[in-house]
Order: sequence, then C-alpha cells, then structure tokens
Amino acid sequence: MRLSLRFIIPLAIVLAAIAYAVVPLVDKLTLKWFVRDLDIRSTLVANTVQEPLLELVRAGSKNKMVAFFSRITQDERLFAIGYCDSSQNQLVATKTFPQGLSCRDIERFRDPGPQVLDSARGPLHVSVQDVEREGTRIGRLVLVHDMSFIQRRSEETKQYVFYFFVGLAAVVSLITVVIAQLSWRGWMQGFHALLRGEGLLRPAEKINVPELRPLARDLRSLIRDVKSEYRPRDEAQLTWTPETLRSILRQDLRGDDILVVSNREPYIHVRRGESIEVQRPASGLVTALEPIMRACSGTWIAHGSGSADAEVVDKNGRVAVPPGNPAYAIRRVWLTKEEEAGYYYGFANEGLWPLCHIAHVRPIFRTGDWNQYIEVNRRFAQAVFEEAKTDDPIVLVQDYHLALLPKMIREKLPDATIVTFWHIPWPNPEAFAICPWRAELLDGLLGSSILGFHTQFHCNNFVDTVDRVLEARVDRETFTISYGRKLTAVKRYPISIESPPSESLIRKTVADCRADIRLRHNLHPDHALGVGVDRMDYTKGILERFLAIERLLELQSRWIGKFSFVQIGAPTRSSIEQYQEFDAHVRALATRINNRFARGDYVPIILKIEHHEPEQVYEYYRAADVCIVSSLHDGMNLVAKEFVAARDDEQGVLILSQFTGASRELPEALIVNPYDIDQCAAALHVALTMPQNEQRDRMRTMRGLVQEFNVYRWAGRMLLDAASMRKRGRLLEKTPAQTRQG
Ligand code: G6P
Repeated sequence: MRLSLRFIIPLAIVLAAIAYAVVPLVDKLTLKWFVRDLDIRSTLVANTVQEPLLELVRAGSKNKMVAFFSRITQDERLFAIGYCDSSQNQLVATKTFPQGLSCRDIERFRDPGPQVLDSARGPLHVSVQDVEREGTRIGRLVLVHDMSFIQRRSEETKQYVFYFFVGLAAVVSLITVVIAQLSWRGWMQGFHALLRGEGLLRPAEKINVPELRPLARDLRSLIRDVKSEYRPRDEAQLTWTPETLRSILRQDLRGDDILVVSNREPYIHVRRGESIEVQRPASGLVTALEPIMRACSGTWIAHGSGSADAEVVDKNGRVAVPPGNPAYAIRRVWLTKEEEAGYYYGFANEGLWPLCHIAHVRPIFRTGDWNQYIEVNRRFAQAVFEEAKTDDPIVLVQDYHLALLPKMIREKLPDATIVTFWHIPWPNPEAFAICPWRAELLDGLLGSSILGFHTQFHCNNFVDTVDRVLEARVDRETFTISYGRKLTAVKRYPISIESPPSESLIRKTVADCRADIRLRHNLHPDHALGVGVDRMDYTKGILERFLAIERLLELQSRWIGKFSFVQIGAPTRSSIEQYQEFDAHVRALATRINNRFARGDYVPIILKIEHHEPEQVYEYYRAADVCIVSSLHDGMNLVAKEFVAARDDEQGVLILSQFTGASRELPEALIVNPYDIDQCAAALHVALTMPQNEQRDRMRTMRGLVQEFNVYRWAGRMLLDAASMRKRGRLLEKTPAQTRQG
C-alpha cells in the first residue's frame, strides 16, 4: 500500500502540473479559433449585404438603413451593425452599437488591428469591412459580434480538460497500483521461494541432475544461515521482550548457558533478629541485569555480602531466586573482611571509581589493595570455571571490580565467549595513566571477546588508552584491538531498564501515589514535589542539587511553603572516608537550607537516607512533579530512565545533568550543567511551571525511546554479537589453516 502511495502521489502531482499548464493553452487556442470564425462570418455578412446596402446609401435614407441593419442583427450573435460614410464620416448604426465607438475609432479595428473590444456587457468582436462602388470605397461597414458565448464555451472547455486529467490520473493510478501490487507480490513470492531454495533447487530436482544436488544442498544451508543472521538483526522489526531474548538464546546460541559475573548480587539476604529479610540493592547494574537473568535463566556469580547470605545457600554456595518464583541461580563467592577491604573498598572504590569519574575526588592506589584485587578476581575466575557446564560458555563480566577476570577466564576456558561491560565512564588516556597498574588492567580487559561501554565517547577513550599504554594493534575502522594473538571488539551498548516496568511497580495509581506521599509528609494535596533518588555518592551531584533548590527559593519566594524536595539516599560504601564525609556534608547542607526557609511545619528538603525497595522508589517517582538527576559524571544513570518509565500518566518533568550518558538519549529532559547553580535553579522553576501539554509532549517522546531501547534490547544486541562471533569462530576452525588470512 505504501509502495502504491509512493507512486500515486508523485503521479498526481505531475498530472496536476500538466493540467495547470495545459488549460490556459487550450483556452488561448480556442479563443483564437473563435475569433477567426467571427472574422470569416463578418466578411460573409458584409459581402451578402453589399448590394442592398449600396441601394440604401444611394437612396440616402438613414431610417431605412437602420431598419435594414436591425433586421440583420436579429441573428443572436451579430450584436450591432454600423455604417460610416467615408466622405462625411457619419455613423448610421443600430441602437445596440457600442456607445463611444465613433467612425474615427473604427480605424484601429481594421485588419490586422485588435478585434476585441471590452464593453460593459462583455467582450465584443469588431470587424470593419470596406463598402465599394465600382472599385471605389464609399464607406465602411462595422459588424459587431457578441463574444460572451466564447467565454461560456471556454469555461466549459476548461472544465472538460480538468475532468479529463482527473480521469486520466485515476486510470493511470489504478493501473500503477495493480501492476505494482502484482509485481511486488510476484517478486516477494519469488524471493521467498528463493530463500526456501525452491526457485533454484526445484528445476535441478525436476530435471534430476545429480551433479547439481550438492550445490543445491550448499545453497540451502547458506540461505538458512543468511536467514538466521538477518531475522533477529532486523532490529526495527522487533519489540524487545523477555521472549525475544529467550528466542535468541534458543536459536542463535543453541540454548548455551549464560553466566553473569558481578561484584554486587541481585538479592541480599539480611538477618533481622529471628527472621531473614531479602533486599534488592540500589545498583544500576543490578536494575539492568536482573530482568535479563529472569528471562534467560543461567547463573549469576556474585559476592555474597548479606549477613544471612551463607544461611540460605546449598553446599555449592547456590540459591535460587527470585525468592518465591525462582528463575535463575545466584552462586555466591565468599570474601574475608580483608579481601573485601582491599578489593572492593580499596582498589575498586577508592582507586578505580574516582579515577574513572571526574568528580574531583583523588583516587587512592595502595599495593596491598591491588594484591587483594588480583586475588579476588582469581576467586571469581575459579567460580566461573566451576559453574561452566561446557568448555565454551558465554560469560558476561560486569564492571570495574572485575577488570582482570576476562583474561583469567580466557586462560582457563580458551573457547569461552567473554562479553565484558564497563558500567562507569572510561576517562581519557592522561587521566587513566595515573593508575600504577594501568597496563595490567588493560591486559586483563583485553581477554574479552567483546568489551562494551555506554557511549561512543567512552569507547574512543578506551581505544586511545590502549593505543597509548600497550603494544597492541588498534583498528579504528572496525573498532577492534588485536593484542596477544587475540581480538577484542570494542562496542557501544547504551544500557537501559525493563520497560514497560513490571506490574508490581506501577500497580498503585498516580493519583493514589500523589495523595499518599503528600499525606505521609504532611503536605497540602497541591504541594509541588521534587524527587531525587541516588546512592549517597559524591558523583551524584546531590550537594549541587540542594544549592539549586536554595537558589530557587531565594529568587522565587513564591515557592517557599509551596515546594518540597524529597531526597532518597541509599547508604553505600560507608566504610570509605570520602563517603562518610560526603554523607555528613549532605545532611549539613540540607539542615542549613531547611533552617533558612522553614515556616511552621514546612521544610524544603526532606532527607530519607535509608534503603528503599523498588516499589517504594516508584511510588515517589509517580508522586513527584519533577525529578532531578544532577550527576557530576555518570556512565548512563538509570534513575532518569526509571522516572520516565514510571510516568504512564505522561506528566512530570525530568531535569538531567549533561554529564550523564542518559542525556544523550533523553534530550527532551531539561538538560543542565550541575555546576551551574543558577541554571539549575532556573530549570527547576521552568519545570514547576511547565504547562501540562508540554510535559506530556516531552514525556511521551522520552517514554517511547526508553520503551524501544529497553534493557532486553541492550542484552539482546550483546548476545547477538556474541552469537555471530561464535559462528565465525566455528567456521574458522573448519577452514584449513593454510587458507586462513591474517
Ligand atoms: C554503580 C556501579 C555498580 C554498582 C553500583 C552500586 O552503578 O557501576 O557496579 O553495583 O554502583 O554500588 P555498590 O558499591 O553498592 O555495588
């Protein structure tokens, strides 16, 4: 249908253009013909009346001449006749003769002069003929024809021409559509037959040519391969759901087992007196990967960090999750306090975290921490080895805690497909180079088959760093790094969330969330509410956000008592000094601002520094008028995407830092520089006064994007790339060594 329209619309335009050009042409031509007819007619009438007219002129009776002329003009088209005596130049004419047309005037109508006179009753055709006696002109006969019939006919002609072109357009369009449909269908059938191998194979089978059979078989298998390569790759055709992922696993990865390895586990068992509670940690990594694992099953290897984690596992350190509805297994890795201190708090979070986030906190590198980091990475590699059911598992390694793991896995399982995803930014080579173990880290990461980052900018930084630090071959066209006879593809996979969110997160209506949250905090039902949801991390720009709120209240006092901001802060990495200091700063700043603007019960900043489960966080997202994400540097930031996914009412405004990966994907948010406090305050005012339809337009676009590029697509694209890499590897194995290139 679309194809047909593509034909018809231009065709209609061309025909309209032709009609537009042709109608005036036809009009002009018919006018010319009619004028010529009237000329001939006038000459004929003049010749016919010549004899009687000479008689009447000779008799000199003007009355008789007028009566004679009046008789002739009874013809419906001959409108008037006049006679001009050449000696006296006197006019004898019918009453209808155009007023103001004197004997002197008629000279200009003589052939080849203009023959059309514009009069009050419309155009008239004027023909001037000589009246002669014995070869001498004695006067002039003026014949005036009514031309209104020509105008009428011209209108009719225009209409006919117009109808003709409309008819022509309809017929041509119809023929085009029929031909297009027939040939498209035929072509598609032919193509499908070709894909099934029929078009090529049947004749061979029919004519029973045995020599062609092997060729047919090869072609058939080639077509099957092409089909399986293309179907899932046609991303625009797919809505990414858990089922899409499962089918990729079944068809492209032949049901191979998936192992995920990360430091943080998706479910933490915590002892609370007599009972054991299950917590879901505040972690973008967990938010993204948990739905993937629910869809794919497999095993998730992670540090068992909960106080009751050891109590719920089997003898192999495994526990089925989610609790009550098991879909996959967590394999817990146990760490001593010293190991955790050196590997997690020390090297990962005091060293690599500030190194990769430009948030002006100095990285600390200690040799003791580095040694623990190596040791713990080795422990994770051992767990992968134990959990792998085959020699070539697909291992998804997560984040900066496990940079050495890819190479360690590669040493134990050389045929594994290792996809590593770096969830935080990758700095420029100069910044990264301050790490004393930069080469070892890169060496470890290049054990990966694929190495993923959120943005192209981070991919570029990584490739530049390798180029600077290692003796490796970097191919900037294919974005691959060849190092130690091993190839690593560096790719961009912007991470996302489960969208639409699971039913349990949005079950409560927006209206109920709004009312309940305001009631809970003792606020008027119309009180404007902002929300921030972060781990208590210095990279998140929480202090800058509070300063922007303070500035708003300074500049726009109308919001004092009318606007409050709820900051949900998940406690995190609290053994680290910088985190303790940051926590204290946040609390102190909130107190100072609250003291400054407090009025009765009212405080502008409501701090909730405690763990919140996802359902509780979504209740705040749905209750808020505005959500602020003001990270000083962030790989992606999934809070921004969660807020958007939570707002099925298409209301609410997102203020988003330009230093997040998410700002590249959500330009409809109010994008701010968190260091520019005045700009953030202004954005807050704009957000709080934004008309509902503008909120809807922005939110609708952002929701569309988050839904289209959801986390199933993120994981699906990585798995598809892993699948084609494995396929290529298998083909290479079959190729005799001497014929291989490179
Ligand atoms: C970031 C990191 C994750 C980490 C999360 C929470 O998102 O990229 O790897 O899990 O922060 O931090 P935590 O230290 O509590 O695991």
